[in-house]
Amino acid sequence: MSLAERIEITKAMDGFVREQLGLLKTVEASWQPSDFVPNSSQEDWFERVKEFRQKAAGIPDDVLVVLVGSMVTEEALPSYQTSFNRLEGVKDANGASDTGWAQWSRGWTAEENRHGDLLNRYLYLTGRVDMRSVEVTIQHLIRNGFDPKHDSDPYNGLIYAAFQERATRYSHAKIAHLTRGAGDSNLGGICGTIAGDEARHEEAYKIFVGKIVEVDPSGAVLALRLMMERMIVMPAHTMYDGQNKNLFAEFSIVAQRLGVYTFQDYIQILDQFLEQWKIAALTQLSSEAAAAQEYLCRLPAMLRRRTAFMEGRVKAGIPMGFLWINGRKV
Ligand SMILES: [Fe+2]
Ligand SMILES: [Fe+2]
Repeated sequence: MSLAERIEITKAMDGFVREQLGLLKTVEASWQPSDFVPNSSQEDWFERVKEFRQKAAGIPDDVLVVLVGSMVTEEALPSYQTSFNRLEGVKDANGASDTGWAQWSRGWTAEENRHGDLLNRYLYLTGRVDMRSVEVTIQHLIRNGFDPKHDSDPYNGLIYAAFQERATRYSHAKIAHLTRGAGDSNLGGICGTIAGDEARHEEAYKIFVGKIVEVDPSGAVLALRLMMERMIVMPAHTMYDGQNKNLFAEFSIVAQRLGVYTFQDYIQILDQFLEQWKIAALTQLSSEAAAAQEYLCRLPAMLRRRTAFMEGRVKAGIPMGFLWINGRKV
């Protein structure tokens, strides 16, 4: 199908998307960043902050680096809303449109907005990081922008979103696990809660893509192949702290070492999507889509062979300094 037809199919899903809006929580039922940090309007704020900082004192530097990377990624939310609103057929026509798609995208953005806020506030209160260099990184990241390589095609963009939600769900959940192990139940609760949001968002994007697979299986399979051939780039890959040109690569190595987001996770996400959308079982595909289906079914095994080499390189890494933690090496 042509791009124009794909746009029409996505537009026609609007009522279906509206039915899924329950996957977003109402504002009344939503948590807010204030729920997780000491209340600054209370008399005992100083004591509470002291306790808060004591709990955070045991977080290892490498976990802090990965946490800052996650926070910076969340804080670049304007780039993700912009990206969504470049998708034909789903974009918010005037910024306050009442289509199902527009309501979804604004509701999703409003939920996501709390993630960066909360992690930012947590890190500020702990006193464990150089906040200014973290803030400089956020400003650079938003200025540098982000191209998820979806070409404004709604199929590609929704696949990208499903992938990213799953990836962030993994990484927040793993940080929650690591920090609980380090004795900080505050951060464990924070990252666990954020992971819960990402899980709901992932669910929604998987349902949206599932609908496309149902209506236009050939188009969906071709879009999935295209996105996987391009590789799903991480949204924060243009991060820069003003000094280190390799910041993203070095952050990724630390994340990989800690098992927070690994090559194996990437492959596992692909595996799960192939299963979720029953890609191998699709029939009556165009010949081009049938070839894409075959490629996709072979891809996890191909990637597994390739990652063995990459994993060896990560483990052999030398300690790296991060401005975020005052130049300390991890
Ligand atoms: Fe998020
Ligand atoms: Fe998300």
